[in-house]
Amino acid sequence: MENIKGIKRTGYCAEYDIRDINKKVVLMGWVNRSRNLGSIIFCDLRDRTGLVQVVFRHEKNEVLFRKAENIKAEYVIAVVGTVSEREDKNPNIKTGDIEIEVDELRILSESAVPVIDITENTATNELLRLKYRFLDLRKPKQQQYLFMRNKIAKCARDFYSENGFIEVETPVLTRSTPEGARDYLVPSRVNQGKFYALPQSPQLLKQLLMISGFDRYYQIVKCFRDEDLRANRQPEFTQIDLEMSFVDVDDVISVNEKFIQNLFKETLNVELKIPFLRMTYEEAMNRFGSDKPDVRFGMELTDISDIVKQSDFKVFTDACSNNGSVKGINAKGCANFSRKDIDKLVEFVKDYKAKGIAWLKVGKDKEITGSITKFFTVEQLETIADAFNGEENDLILIIADKNQTVYDSLGALRIEIAKRLNLIDNNRYEFLWVTEFPQFEFNEEDNRYYAKHHPFTAPMDEDLEFLHTDPAKVRAKAYDIVLNGEEIGGGSIRIHDSDFQEEMLGVLGFTKDKAEESFGFLLNALRFGTPPHGGMAYGLDRLVMSITKTDNIRDVIAFPKIQSGACPLTDAPNVVDNKQLDELGICLKEKKNED
Ligand code: AMO
Repeated sequence: MENIKGIKRTGYCAEYDIRDINKKVVLMGWVNRSRNLGSIIFCDLRDRTGLVQVVFRHEKNEVLFRKAENIKAEYVIAVVGTVSEREDKNPNIKTGDIEIEVDELRILSESAVPVIDITENTATNELLRLKYRFLDLRKPKQQQYLFMRNKIAKCARDFYSENGFIEVETPVLTRSTPEGARDYLVPSRVNQGKFYALPQSPQLLKQLLMISGFDRYYQIVKCFRDEDLRANRQPEFTQIDLEMSFVDVDDVISVNEKFIQNLFKETLNVELKIPFLRMTYEEAMNRFGSDKPDVRFGMELTDISDIVKQSDFKVFTDACSNNGSVKGINAKGCANFSRKDIDKLVEFVKDYKAKGIAWLKVGKDKEITGSITKFFTVEQLETIADAFNGEENDLILIIADKNQTVYDSLGALRIEIAKRLNLIDNNRYEFLWVTEFPQFEFNEEDNRYYAKHHPFTAPMDEDLEFLHTDPAKVRAKAYDIVLNGEEIGGGSIRIHDSDFQEEMLGVLGFTKDKAEESFGFLLNALRFGTPPHGGMAYGLDRLVMSITKTDNIRDVIAFPKIQSGACPLTDAPNVVDNKQLDELGICLKEKKNED
């Protein structure tokens, strides 16, 4: 193997163009492809900037030509040569007008035959790609994701530091604080039987920094949540986290709109208009069936509970009398959907707990056909169709159930149909703040309230009277930022009074002792002069996904985990030897044989 002694790289492969003709260059990189035509060898040299063609000619230098015959895909080479104009130009690459006439070749490193195809973005088995992630990351497209991630992180650092925020690191080994998901635990060797938890977010620590008087904090920080993975979730992900003192909802929103505006200008050269649209949680649910609506298209929900609650159709009347509702959407121009198509939609909504879909088609002269016509008079059907602004060729899809089921299933159905009908413009960026989230969420299984955002979020002043009498009515000073139907961030104004924080924990079912045990350090700190404060956190991974337009979170993370939480490359998590366990005072339970 040769080395680079005596030569120095003059630049990156794709940095040269027609203006550099006759320039002497030294380039280093990977062999993307090499073609031997007998008397001439063309080789595409690749580095992180792209490709350039390098040429070896038999007639010019036979020894060099013979050496070049040995190079294969993914070898690492250095070439010393001259930029010259290419005869057959290649408009598909940036350096397509030039090639490098090589005078010296050094083979710096050979390569085993690559296990995955690096030259093309072929759909190789993802598990194999992740096992060989270091090769997968050689693909230009995969590199672009990480370059963009870097740019976004830099924009965040620049923006927040220019606006008076200071970056403070908070510990990774911390204590378990319930925030919804399960914690990853780390056993302590020195304090046997005790565990650290990896932070689900730096929530409480950033609040303590406000109590300390830092006024404006931010951090690009790893967070860990042991929850089921989805297309937009990883157990280990990154937040752009921030907190501000002496602020209310509008102040946090205003700074962050400027950040997003700045970010989109810097990364995509897109000019966003601020302020962004704002919508209360209640409005978002009623209009779109979702607290993170995609507002790039309409197809809003229509509530027909009042029209049908006294009809002869038991499914509808039962839903209304059981505190549920009857709502639907108008899939415009979809009356040509076959029974089979509609059956597929029924299967689709079952994933969201809906039992079925009642449907109506509007035909010529407003003739209405469908699955529920026999339960209604012609006039009633017309009233229903009118409520949906039904016109010829429309398909009206109705769901009657508990409110949450109606929202979840219609919210998802709306998106599914919009995708099928190509209603979504992928070049638009529609931001939306969803505000006034409910403070609590009732969990029927546990028969108790949980904090919808987290227990440190302040309720809206006008709803305080319901805190003990009707918690479901209490709205929070909480907000999410939604981009094209994806929640990219969220935050709230916090409770800054210790007694009130204790009261809030009480509503959430914490006894005084339990509150003290879990959050004593916060309750104590809040007693020492706490400024009103609030903040938010973005999911950095999700921001990168939106900006690079990928729907796979693994694309934007250098070494991501798969569905089971494992890393195919390093094989984490893995067993440890007994000595390590002994030191930690840990004894594993015998694993039951799985048959
Ligand atoms: P929250 O839990 O809403 O708030 O998280 C903030 C943002 O982080 C992203 N996110 C995730 N991204 C990838 N994988 C995950 N598993 C994952 N979980 C969350 C989302 C989300 O909007 N401490 C509060 C913030 C605050 O109140 O200031 C918090 O963590 O984009």
